[in-house]
Amino acid sequence: MARVFPIGPRRWLAATVGAILLPLLSGPSAADDIDAERGLSIARTWCSSCHLVEPAGAAVDAGPPFTEVANDPERTPDRLRAWLADPHPPMPDLNLSRDEIRAILAYLESLKDS
Ligand code: HEC
Repeated sequence: MARVFPIGPRRWLAATVGAILLPLLSGPSAADDIDAERGLSIARTWCSSCHLVEPAGAAVDAGPPFTEVANDPERTPDRLRAWLADPHPPMPDLNLSRDEIRAILAYLESLKDS
């Protein structure tokens, strides 16, 4: 018997339903907001000893303030991603996961002056 479907009909159905539902359930802006919130909480925990992570906050000056990082055109998302994956001294390597880096980048994006 020749098979009509290249994949089983049940998997085909699941793939189709998923392809239709996923974009509806997770609009890009909602996902970005969740990432940015997570990024802020990571930054408060892991970065605030050296960086001013929020626009208003106690001054620390070991590293550049995040509002400055976010608004510096030289610090593109690609450059920041590379930096966070492999920072150089004096900044320590915090072993951030790809998800954590994505969340931090979303948070930095939210600090941009529009
Ligand atoms: C122990 C202190 C310390 C901690 C903790 C720290 N940083 Fe840094 N960071 C620095 C210093 C110092 C620099 C400046 C390095 C330089 O200019 O050579 C820096 C630079 C940076 C830069 C700028 C890179 C560039 O392109 O110039 C970014 C972005 C950054 N840090 C993000 C973070 C994030 C996100 C965290 C938390 C997950 C973090 N840092 C935690 C000390 C720290």
